Amino acid sequence: MSGFSFTLSATDGRARSGVIRTPRGEIRTPAFMPVGTAGTVKAMLPESVRATGADILLGNTYHLMLRPGAERIARLGGLHRFMNWSRPILTDSGGFQVMSLSELRKLTEEGVTFSSHVDGSRHFLSPETSMEIQRLLGSDIVMAFDECPALPATHERQAEAMRLSMRWAQRSRDAFGDRPGHALFGIMQGGVERDLREESAAALRRIGFDGYAIGGLAVGEGQEAMLSVLDYATHLLPAEQPRYLMGVGKPDDIVGAVQRGVDMMDCVLPSRSGRTGQAWTRRGQINIKNARHADDPRPLDETCTCPACTGYSRAYLHHVFRAGEMISGMLLTWHNLHYYQQIMQQMREAIAAGTLEDWVAGFHAERAGGDI
Ligand code: GUN
Ligand code: ZN
Repeated sequence: MSGFSFTLSATDGRARSGVIRTPRGEIRTPAFMPVGTAGTVKAMLPESVRATGADILLGNTYHLMLRPGAERIARLGGLHRFMNWSRPILTDSGGFQVMSLSELRKLTEEGVTFSSHVDGSRHFLSPETSMEIQRLLGSDIVMAFDECPALPATHERQAEAMRLSMRWAQRSRDAFGDRPGHALFGIMQGGVERDLREESAAALRRIGFDGYAIGGLAVGEGQEAMLSVLDYATHLLPAEQPRYLMGVGKPDDIVGAVQRGVDMMDCVLPSRSGRTGQAWTRRGQINIKNARHADDPRPLDETCTCPACTGYSRAYLHHVFRAGEMISGMLLTWHNLHYYQQIMQQMREAIAAGTLEDWVAGFHAERAGGDI
């Protein structure tokens, strides 16, 4: 498809590095995508998000259709213009959020009818309406409409949800049509059941997408189960197209996913935990609320070049968190996003140099247990 391409430049074991090219800019892979659910990466200006090293943001169909509405955003020039981010945006399709956030849901073959968590109003999402909303938003990478069942789920329930998602994947493909410069990604489902993952991957490959996501993970199955699915799941997808692991994760989840051949990831963790006083560093987690930071003149991480670490002590960060000052969430979010992007950059370099295994050993060795 013209205007959108993926070029692999290096592999190291099963890990890959490369570039996704879009008319709105390049995405270096493996890529971490900060989450800008409601048209903002919370507590960050878009230029600050870019300064951390992000090439692409994630936005949400579900939230934006409810508030302020996709048609309004389209009239105002599209999501990029609306939120002042001119680089690529990937939008999730709403299938996942509707199941976790909305109320009074009714799921049929046709789609999902639900009540808004904002004002209780009734809405309908289907493969066709999700494609239309993502088109109105101006999304560069559009996600197929899927159903991710809540855990615990039986094999039968997983099979049913996966097969519905595959029928919806075909309808998403048909409704998306041919849109040069925009990409459509299919989403594999099937929980932790290998036979269902195989069936799902085969169905998606038959339909044909510009990229393939692995959905239905990081929903409570635990890291070991997730990584054991990734041990085989990436092999089921075409080597020439990007693979996106949805909603993952903690730094060590991301490293494990990249080692298993994942090219893209997104997670609210670095931004959300920044607002609740959690910092992620190369040595482990820091809970800035903890009284032991009250007199500590050191930065979060003396080797970090982010504004939180070059300008402020742990004592200051502790104080502004305790005082409920807005700068607390701003600085910790910046640091966390910077740290995540540093990991991605270092992994891209290690893959190119063929030294990922050593890099991963160093990554684990540096991390201490507990709050540092
Ligand atoms: N985000 C995290 N997991 C999923 C999933 O399975 N489907 C969708 N659409 N979004 C997700
Ligand atoms: Zn920092």
